[in-house]
Amino acid sequence: MTLEAALRTAVGPEHVLLDRDLRASYETDWTGRFTGTCRAVVRPGTTTQVARVLAACCEARVPVVIQGGNTGLVGGSVPAAPGPADQFPVVLLTRRLTELGPVSRASRQVTAGAGVALTALTAHARAAGLDFGVDLAARDTATVGGMVATNAGGIRVIRYGSMREQVTGVEAALLDGRVISRLGGLAKDSTGYDIGHLLAGSEGTLAVITRLRLRLVTAEPERAVAMIAVRGTAEAVELLAALRAALPGISAAELCFGPGLALTARHLRVGLPLEGAGGAYVLVEVAGEADPLDDLLAALGKCEQVLDATVASSAADRARLWALREHHTEAINSAGVALKLDVSVPADRLAELVERLADAIAAIEPAARMVTFGHLAEANLHVNVLGATGNAESVTGAVLTLVASLGGSISSEHGVGRAKAPWLGLSRSPAEIDVMRSIKAAFDPFGLLNPGVLLPADQ
Ligand code: FAD
Ligand code: MLT
Ligand code: ZN
Repeated sequence: MTLEAALRTAVGPEHVLLDRDLRASYETDWTGRFTGTCRAVVRPGTTTQVARVLAACCEARVPVVIQGGNTGLVGGSVPAAPGPADQFPVVLLTRRLTELGPVSRASRQVTAGAGVALTALTAHARAAGLDFGVDLAARDTATVGGMVATNAGGIRVIRYGSMREQVTGVEAALLDGRVISRLGGLAKDSTGYDIGHLLAGSEGTLAVITRLRLRLVTAEPERAVAMIAVRGTAEAVELLAALRAALPGISAAELCFGPGLALTARHLRVGLPLEGAGGAYVLVEVAGEADPLDDLLAALGKCEQVLDATVASSAADRARLWALREHHTEAINSAGVALKLDVSVPADRLAELVERLADAIAAIEPAARMVTFGHLAEANLHVNVLGATGNAESVTGAVLTLVASLGGSISSEHGVGRAKAPWLGLSRSPAEIDVMRSIKAAFDPFGLLNPGVLLPADQ
């Protein structure tokens, strides 16, 4: 039997896409920077079907690229640039795994299929009087499986941690077709290695996550939001430290700069609050069961770093301020194909990173345009470089080397993907990479799952 025939038997002929036009949208990533060719797109609808697809590909020794919502920003969810046709991978799509179990109020957990979109999960939790702790701008399309596979962060890490921290159980299909399942949601379980947490951040290189048991949090419906102008990044870091001491309910603290805000405001065709008032801008949100607006105003009144501030007085105002932050990604994409680097450094080195970045990039690509923003609480900076994709290797190398020299990480929340795999050695030691390779070999002895993602071929 051919692989195509085995795939049709596994999932039904209507869920095996072979036609070039039908495959196309699954072969290019969200940024438009990463594109390749696949042999087929396969859409399993159950865990058993996922396992059958994997077993068939394993048997045929054909690589598999796993794709959820395809909102990843490091090229991990699409095939690599074309190689030999017999090595074109199968794209395994998880979007039909959309089962959502009942919310358990006793354990404050829920079981979700890997293909459930973040918005659907959040709505489901809220309907039961609870909430989900992770949120990000790609919420309508990003899947919970993809978010665990990348250990996604987003705008609420300051309060609830990243995606790994939400995981209390995982079901996953292995390359040879076996399924491992631990969805009991035990509040405590110290029985050796935690395979579920190992899959968080594995970027589809070890197994296909099919279902997740996820922690839910207390709903905090009342919100207060402000955007604050400060002199520069150092003052933004100091401001957040002061606000955290005064406001235990801080649920987001985001960092923006003038060029990114101006680009986003133009993209959205809206006015810019606080125009030109500072060298950096902090969007802060406080959440609670009671309205936290007065507490936020009182705290801001005591912070000497505040040059100017606008405080949202209605839900519409809050949405307007958030849109200026959350639409940075779209605004940048509309300006061209950007080199996107997502890094973090120790908080006390963030100002130095911001200060040195422009020179590091200009030394290689003087005409490049840099747009930065990020998640202030984790000193997580999103470095977007427009007009540099022709020199992507050198610019990436310069930025990531600078980050490493400041004690930082080359991948704060987006993962390593294809974009940063050659630079893994800047953030992990040779011994750590050896251990990672051994783990990979234990799950994927033939190197068929997302080859070229996370672990570079030649390191
Ligand atoms: P995909 O893009 O489909 O895949 C991502 C990776 O996970 C790939 O390597 C893929 O092979 C693997 N994978 C997917 N599903 C599975 C599975 N079931 N089992 C095993 N491996 C799997 N990210 C953040 O962290 N924080 C943000 O604030 C943020 N904001 C964003 C805003 C916008 C506008 C956009 C476009 C993206 C943003 N992202 C952000 C990036 C992206 O949304 C996340 O990386 C998200 O986790 C990807 O989910 P996905 O379902 O789209 O995964
Ligand atoms: C964000 O925080 O908005 C993102 O991670 C997306 C990006 O980096 O463009
Ligand atoms: Zn982000």
